Amino acid sequence: METLHEIFAYAKINLGLAIVGRRSDGYHELQSVMQSIELHDIIRVERLGNSLVCQCGELSGPGNLAYKAAALFLRNIEVNEGVLIKIDKQIPLQAGLAGGSSDAAAVLLLLNEIYQKPLNFEELKRIALMCGSDVCFFLTGGTMWATGRGEELEALPAAPKMELVLVKPLDGIDTSKAYRRFDVLGRSGRINKEDWQIVLRKGQIKEIAALLHNDFELVSAEMVPEIYHVKQELLRTGCYGSLMSGSGSTVFGIARDKEHAAWAEQKMLKKGFSQVWCASTQNG
Ligand code: C5P
Repeated sequence: METLHEIFAYAKINLGLAIVGRRSDGYHELQSVMQSIELHDIIRVERLGNSLVCQCGELSGPGNLAYKAAALFLRNIEVNEGVLIKIDKQIPLQAGLAGGSSDAAAVLLLLNEIYQKPLNFEELKRIALMCGSDVCFFLTGGTMWATGRGEELEALPAAPKMELVLVKPLDGIDTSKAYRRFDVLGRSGRINKEDWQIVLRKGQIKEIAALLHNDFELVSAEMVPEIYHVKQELLRTGCYGSLMSGSGSTVFGIARDKEHAAWAEQKMLKKGFSQVWCASTQNG
């Protein structure tokens, strides 16, 4: 019997995100500090028959990015075989945590293992980018400086372990809509790679909290006003800092330690927010 291969697909947050321009290909030029976090989906893959199947509850089938990743992988290595992908979903959707992208990257990494590494890193990256701008980050994860569409990646000093509280407002946000809104009323900020290298190397969590920035926050909060409410409440619990992740709608707070994070999680649940998680940052 074919063995079942399993991998965790971690979510990410953006500690910094600036939209610095529009590109001729319709995408936007970014600068971002991307960070893996412990919250994860579980991906299981096995070779099976000759059809491609992706099971993921309501997100089953060819529309799933993980299905697309597997189809592109198999086409690239020219194997006419079937694969069964099972996704145990924990990462919320339309949340700015790139769960779908992480699943796709996890499938590429798993399939490359299963077929004994037919593709090198550059080839995997090329397929990852065909699946989406965020997918490349998840081939390595950790703490990364991202530019271009988000696929030009450079390792930053690994962030110190931070305890986060994540809260997702009821409404999610469609990324392409957020970009369109940004084009109408957004303002481009800048984030500075050297500043981030310095604070990350020092590893002082309060200094990291002081640098948090996301150009999407204004436009996304205009679409989902609860974002600001969540942010205010997280700061009120005593988090060092709070920021929306990606294009939203999840907002994270950097807690003082694990106990504080668990206390803040309870506090947010009592205030009526229903989608609340504690998660540490994740490096390697
Ligand atoms: O690359 P991905 O398919 O994840 O992007 C989703 C949408 O977000 C794109 O259709 C595009 O409208 C927008 N996008 C962008 N610039 C980026 C990344 C995404 O405009 N750097």
